[in-house]
Amino acid sequence: MARYFQLTLCALLFALGCTGVRAQDDPQVDPQTEQQNAPRELAARSINLLSFIAVDYPEAVADGAVRDPQLYRQLRRYAERVGTLLQQLPERPGRSQLDANLAELSDAIEQLADPDRVRRRANGAADRIAALYQLPRSPLELLPEGDEAAAVYRERCSHCHGARGEQANTGGSDLDSRERMARFSLYDLYNTIDPARDDAHGQAIDGDLSSRQRWALAVLIAGFSAPPQAPPQALAEKYPALVALPGLAVTRPSELPQEAAAALIWWRAHPEYTRRLQHPLARAAGLIQLAQTSYRGGDSATAYHQLMLALREGFAPARLPLEERDAPLANQLDQQWRELREAILGEAPSNEVIEKFQRLQAAVLRAREALQPTPKQGLYGWSALLFAAALLLGGLLWWGLRRHSRRD
Ligand code: HEC
Repeated sequence: MARYFQLTLCALLFALGCTGVRAQDDPQVDPQTEQQNAPRELAARSINLLSFIAVDYPEAVADGAVRDPQLYRQLRRYAERVGTLLQQLPERPGRSQLDANLAELSDAIEQLADPDRVRRRANGAADRIAALYQLPRSPLELLPEGDEAAAVYRERCSHCHGARGEQANTGGSDLDSRERMARFSLYDLYNTIDPARDDAHGQAIDGDLSSRQRWALAVLIAGFSAPPQAPPQALAEKYPALVALPGLAVTRPSELPQEAAAALIWWRAHPEYTRRLQHPLARAAGLIQLAQTSYRGGDSATAYHQLMLALREGFAPARLPLEERDAPLANQLDQQWRELREAILGEAPSNEVIEKFQRLQAAVLRAREALQPTPKQGLYGWSALLFAAALLLGGLLWWGLRRHSRRD
């Protein structure tokens, strides 16, 4: 069961393309990316609405009866608006499945279904939108510490939300309620403080914040409901996808088994500490995955940046031990990094670049296994399988998109 859970979680995280930062915050955006921002912003708005349906529904409906009619009406309106927003998004293979998911969600809300069902449907539809539209849902680099945003929070947020989120806002929600905050991922929180995606705040409150400031605020807010004690280190080995990006940013604790949920609530509030729990090559693999998704989304500047970060932050610290354990593999990796870097910079055809991404990813995974102290453990055999499954899925999606855009 635990294995099955890990399988589903990792497959979701790695396959459902979840990546980089919003391109508009990157000064080196290429013109192709500019064109793609409009659909991405619409997709992000839809995901934001879906996250509120998932989070707020238990307060609107309980035991098959409406508890808060006003909130219930609002959530139905949200579901309708998601439908309208999606109609403005370009067609994609797999879109009909998404439309079916949304219809199911609306039916479930209409029938006052139980909150678990509605939450799963809403979150499932959000994940599908992110995958279909290759949406960035993780920071460009590493997650900033919450402390970075402490001054901004004090100046701009605390008079409404309280010094540590304890003050109920007019919507009646506290930022320090663990139960409620566990239903948001960091990415969901990030979205709520972007006026392009959420109407909760006006332009004056959060309109001019940078992407990094928003991530830092999301981390800070997540910390309001986190327990004071760090979880046992062994949990980081049990749930490796939760201490790495993109898992740390896109997973909603409420969807996890209890011990994993409690650990994630703490980990995501302490990104710097959490980074130390991660094997550098696991970090490299996560960043390569993010880079690949950025590249597929048409943003090669971000992809390049993330690839170099994977090299610096992930591969470089592991290079020497790998050389000692398996020199040919270390050399092969050197060459693969070089080739991929050149292919991106030289604007090689995208199928070639994607293939190089996939080969590099597989080699990094082999390196991770080569450095495994106890090869009998089996866990990394699983992760090899998961990566393979994720790559296959990603590849299929990409080919589908490509075939589709050729037809247009
Ligand atoms: C003028 C008062 C005000 C200020 C200032 C303000 N907020 Fe809010 N915030 C609200 C209200 C009201 C809501 C609820 C909106 C709703 O329920 O639709 C909200 C919702 C939120 C939410 C979603 C929480 C949930 O449980 O639904 C987050 C996160 C948040 N604010 C963070 C911030 C941050 C970060 C800042 C500072 C940059 C900030 N807010 C500034 C009033 C404010």
